[in-house]
Amino acid sequence: MSRPRVLVTREVFDDVLEYLARHFDVTPNQADTPMSPAALAQALADKEGALTTLSERVDAALLAQCPKLKAVCNIAVGFNNIDLKACTERGVMATNTPGVLDDSTADFTWALILATTRRVTETEAWLRAGQWSGWKLKQFLGTDVHHATLGILGMGRIGQAVARRARGFDMTVLYHNTRRLSAEVEKSCHAAYVSMDELLARADILTLHMPYSPATHHIIGAKQLARMKNTAILINAARGGVVDDAALVEALKRGTLAAAGLDVFENEPTLNPEFLKLKNVVLTPHIASSTEATRRNMAMTAAENLVAALTTGKPPNLLNPPV
Ligand code: DGY
Repeated sequence: MSRPRVLVTREVFDDVLEYLARHFDVTPNQADTPMSPAALAQALADKEGALTTLSERVDAALLAQCPKLKAVCNIAVGFNNIDLKACTERGVMATNTPGVLDDSTADFTWALILATTRRVTETEAWLRAGQWSGWKLKQFLGTDVHHATLGILGMGRIGQAVARRARGFDMTVLYHNTRRLSAEVEKSCHAAYVSMDELLARADILTLHMPYSPATHHIIGAKQLARMKNTAILINAARGGVVDDAALVEALKRGTLAAAGLDVFENEPTLNPEFLKLKNVVLTPHIASSTEATRRNMAMTAAENLVAALTTGKPPNLLNPPV
């Protein structure tokens, strides 16, 4: 009997390919060449499964060209690149990688918080450019993190991990979420639930931790930014599109918001060019989950989902159970 054929859309670790090869005929892409929608459709036309990343759009148009496809396993917790409804209609299982990247993403959120408040990247660039002539009392004054108020918008696993880390900085932690957490979880996070308006008004540092969807599109736009303190900073290591980048640029230019730390962008990898001109922004290329251990874990979790999907029909992280 012929083995199921699967496509791995981007470069992965060798052991992930070896594991998949024990079960399937694997078409890898170790050259890591990004695939256009047409190239992806062609590569998937005879495949039963795919290991995908957030760079590939899986929608009705693609699925219509892939009659054999049964499972699409994303190497990411986010799955806004996948049209779940279209997958369900076509009987295609979709999976993600929840849990394995929470701590690394929370750690990186703190890297952004500290880099932004204490102007780490701005001052490093200045120093490397040979500008430093000596210590000065008022040089590069930053903002204290300790004892400040941390606002967390989106209090799932990653938001909670960020909250727990705030204890070491003696912060007041406020959060807003679509549903309030249990008293027990609030206590373990030392976090108090507030309305969105109160969160925006009180946060010295506002950090975002929600998936991107039509409901969260531009959840932080001009109106929300205007409610924030002009001394506040905004951190986004969640998804591009939850922030209106053009409105953020305006707020940062006008000084109605002090600074921002951003790992994700609308239309990435293309950035709003204005960000590059601003000194009060820390910019990183969507690497919040990128540690060796975590990226290995994500890829292997996705591979395990694919094996389970095509062998048992019951992958652990199924996103569309109706299928
Ligand atoms: C995710 O898992 O959704 C991340 O954004 C990928 O790094």
